[in-house]
Amino acid sequence: MAISDPVPAVLPSVMSADMLALGAQLDALCHAGARVFHVDVMDGHFVPNLTVGPDFTAAVARAVRPHGGAVDVHLMVERPGPLLELFAPYADAISVHAESDPHVHRLLGEIRRLGCRAGLAVNPGTPVAAVAELAEELDYVNCMSVNPGFAGQSFIATTPAKLARLRDALPDRVLLEVDGGIGPATLPQARDAGAQWLVSASAIFGQPDPVAAYTALAALAG
Ligand code: DX5
Ligand code: ZN
Repeated sequence: MAISDPVPAVLPSVMSADMLALGAQLDALCHAGARVFHVDVMDGHFVPNLTVGPDFTAAVARAVRPHGGAVDVHLMVERPGPLLELFAPYADAISVHAESDPHVHRLLGEIRRLGCRAGLAVNPGTPVAAVAELAEELDYVNCMSVNPGFAGQSFIATTPAKLARLRDALPDRVLLEVDGGIGPATLPQARDAGAQWLVSASAIFGQPDPVAAYTALAALAG
């Protein structure tokens, strides 16, 4: 499965795609080599924005899986437990936020039981210790480099230092993802600090030629 493809990898974040041209954009990105696609799910409570749900995620999976692609679902949702089984058929990896539920240990086990890679996303203010404590339950960590909720925000400058601390605190098998404000200027810093899945929305879909932008970022990722 594409989820085990080599890293570092650039993950296009579909929230900034052209929704009326989504199929063509995903197809073109797959042909350009993109393999893992990031879907941002926002509930209007955990974050002050609303985005997409399981049906949209299913459409993304239908578009990318025939190319060997995979879907990474980032749940920015208060108490995401009941939603996990709705997303699991269309997700290869699901991250829940450490701040979204008092029982994330249980949720991570549930994500694995549903057959997906289990990820923990952490807001900029959440300490590394909250993640390290759950290492056994984790397949990946999504280190937020903006306050979640919107695409197009600036990369928080202290993120590379946090990424490096996360890398030190986690076993090698736990993949490190970075999400927010990743573009040509910030990607190298994040990669050098240990990030392996580099999520990008605006720096791909906000550009006149998303495929060219993806290709340039992927080359930079190495
Ligand atoms: C932000 C989302 C990100 C977002 C990134 O809350 O989790 O995945 O799409 O957007 P950019 O790359 O524009 O910062
Ligand atoms: Zn995200």
